[in-house]
Amino acid sequence: MIKISVESASKYEGKEVKIPGWVYNFRSSGSIYFLQVRDGSGFIQAIVNKAEVSDKAWSACEKITLESSVELSGKISKHPKKEEYELQVSDIKITQLAEEYPIGKKDHGPDFLLDMRHLWLRSTKQWAIQRVRNTIINSIYEFLNKEGYIKIDSPILTPNACEGTTTLFEMDYFDLGKAYLAQSGQLYIEAAIFSHGKVFDFGPVFRAEKSKTRRHLTEFWMMDAEAANVEHEENMKIQEELICFIIKKVLAENQKELEILERDVEPLKKIRPPFGRMTHAEAVKKLQKLGSDIKEDDDLGGDDETLLTKDSPVPIFVEKWPAKIKAFYMKRDASGKVALCDDLIAIEGFGEIIGGSQREDDYDTLLKRIKEQKLPLKDFQWYLDLRKYGSVPHSGFGVGLERLVGWLCGTPHVRETIPFPRMINRLRP
Ligand code: 4AD
Ligand code: MG
Repeated sequence: MIKISVESASKYEGKEVKIPGWVYNFRSSGSIYFLQVRDGSGFIQAIVNKAEVSDKAWSACEKITLESSVELSGKISKHPKKEEYELQVSDIKITQLAEEYPIGKKDHGPDFLLDMRHLWLRSTKQWAIQRVRNTIINSIYEFLNKEGYIKIDSPILTPNACEGTTTLFEMDYFDLGKAYLAQSGQLYIEAAIFSHGKVFDFGPVFRAEKSKTRRHLTEFWMMDAEAANVEHEENMKIQEELICFIIKKVLAENQKELEILERDVEPLKKIRPPFGRMTHAEAVKKLQKLGSDIKEDDDLGGDDETLLTKDSPVPIFVEKWPAKIKAFYMKRDASGKVALCDDLIAIEGFGEIIGGSQREDDYDTLLKRIKEQKLPLKDFQWYLDLRKYGSVPHSGFGVGLERLVGWLCGTPHVRETIPFPRMINRLRP
């Protein structure tokens, strides 16, 4: 008998098959058992009729508990009314009879569920979120490969900070002093553009963020992209195209998952280029008019981001920020006061999903900046070197994977968008 996945059941209508899976729900009506079974690829109802199975199989059925692993044999049939397939069971074997499952039908609080994360991952919504995450990861690779980007893996243990020194995880590194967990691979992939032109990395990054918001994790996944001979304006166009590509893929490939998540897809369907654009100064003015107490040189808070995009059908680039509140590596405009950078703010209150900028490509300017900010010159000399040997204008950006997953799934807290979230108050499981 052929072993199949639930996902492919429609191809086996009328055929005898074997399906290994887990029982996530069941009910009985005297001589019939209805088992709700999932196998990772999908969900199927298995019908066990006492009259049609052996006594052994029937008594196995009577013992069944939630989350028991089973191997079912039977014939695939089409649901009389719906576009769904069922399994008319001829035999059932229990692979492991599960103990009483701690996650029940009742509403559990988030702390309990996070303590049970190793089990919670099986729940239907959590299953759907990870499937969307998988599509997003694959579509990022697909887009970048199609555009000629080469993947360059950046190091996680680094001697220097990329995004300021306040959120660094620090450790002793043998006899060489301190090492830090990477906050972004950007500085390293900048080196690789001089070899490959267009490059990206995609991996875990770490921020010792003291913030306890629904948008902050201490370990999250970032895709940094970087390209030679790309300036600020073109950098934003690439981000716009990437995001549109990802949304299209998710809408096409994850209909079922988005339905499970009860995600209203209409706002996503309407997203297309060009995205909104406003300078930081314009954003501040607009926010002040809307009642925010934000000031000229302030970062945007979560509430500001929500307010700013409230009536926009497309994400908004907030560009050209005051240089003094942005990173040392960003190129500035002619005035020297404004950084040629952008934060891409999603719609529907999901906040910043991308941070990017053109990079300072002049040796002396960058050296001055590093000295002004009292960064350790010896650890940045290699980065300065890149401006000595064939320097070119270049730009890049970093996508926060969990924020993007959260937005597309309509999941407000990023803790559900990563398999095992790390936050200031959570390291387990
Ligand atoms: O804006 P950020 O800090 O930019 C950088 O790190 C640049 N070096 C990237 C680059 O230019 N290559 O981070 C990029 C994105 C943010 O827009 C946000 O989506 C996400 O990473 N992010 C976080 N996500 C979850 N938890 C946190 N603590 C995050 N901090 C940033
Ligand atoms: Mg940012």
